[in-house]
Amino acid sequence: MKKNIRYIDFSRPNTNILKLLKSLDKNKDKDNVNTILSNKSFKNYVESCKNKLKHGKLGVVLQFNYKNKYLAPDTIIDITKAVSLILGKKIVQNEKGDKLVYVFDRDRNLSINSGGRYHQTREGGSIHTDNVNLKIKWDYLILSCVSRAEIGGETILVNGKEIYKILKKKFKLALSILRKNFYWEKRGISESFYKSPIIEFNKKKEPTFRYLRPYMVSAHEKVKKPLSPLQLYSLDVLDSLLEAPENQIRFNLSPGDILLTIDNQVLHGRTSFSDFYNSEEIFKNKETLAPLKRTMIRAWIKDSASQRI
Ligand SMILES: [Fe+2]
Repeated sequence: MKKNIRYIDFSRPNTNILKLLKSLDKNKDKDNVNTILSNKSFKNYVESCKNKLKHGKLGVVLQFNYKNKYLAPDTIIDITKAVSLILGKKIVQNEKGDKLVYVFDRDRNLSINSGGRYHQTREGGSIHTDNVNLKIKWDYLILSCVSRAEIGGETILVNGKEIYKILKKKFKLALSILRKNFYWEKRGISESFYKSPIIEFNKKKEPTFRYLRPYMVSAHEKVKKPLSPLQLYSLDVLDSLLEAPENQIRFNLSPGDILLTIDNQVLHGRTSFSDFYNSEEIFKNKETLAPLKRTMIRAWIKDSASQRI
């Protein structure tokens, strides 16, 4: 199959907006989020990106870097806060109540297969949606790039609608199972479980996905309902399709790039990565010149005006 990247748009705001944002790099003590929000052009630009998602695109990369120069991490954080406020209501992502979560490797020994959360490791793979540890459905995933790894950490996207088409044409048995209930755990949020299919349909009768295999496997173990051979077969078919290079697009996000997707229609992941040997996490880095760890800011957004779900 020919790779179809047209479902993702790459969008750069106009020069005036970029100049304003660059000027904020020096305004460390001011309320930059409000300065950004009060700029009408910025607001219109973000709204126009959101409208692309309502008219057929499944994702947009908002590119906030000026003349190939990266903005300061603090400015990128403020832009991310402003963008998420314009898009809708942020959803709580963990038991601490955080609505903006920093994605970076906490410890090279951590693994998603031994209970870690994907966003706290350096592991790649496990192409997924983020809407897995909450039964309620929200709309948009934001992944905002603050800094890159020394090597790896490419972003991987897969068009869920295309995967559904292949399942419908060639793997009807697997599709019928993926449309039935599985158990899910609310890892990192609460010690409870819920049931939901992997593939459902929204109000527009478009296929939607809920998928992160390790979280589901552990839920089935914990509730003592082992996955059946037919369920395992269906998950293996799905993983094989998600991992096939012809179904993926890959690209590196640069600092200042904000990936905005319809979470339940674009599955995502990354390649494994390594930070610089002497890198530091963003919260400890203020006083040193050490390189930052690969850092993304993640938000989950519910759009009150959405008709998709
Ligand atoms: Fe994710």
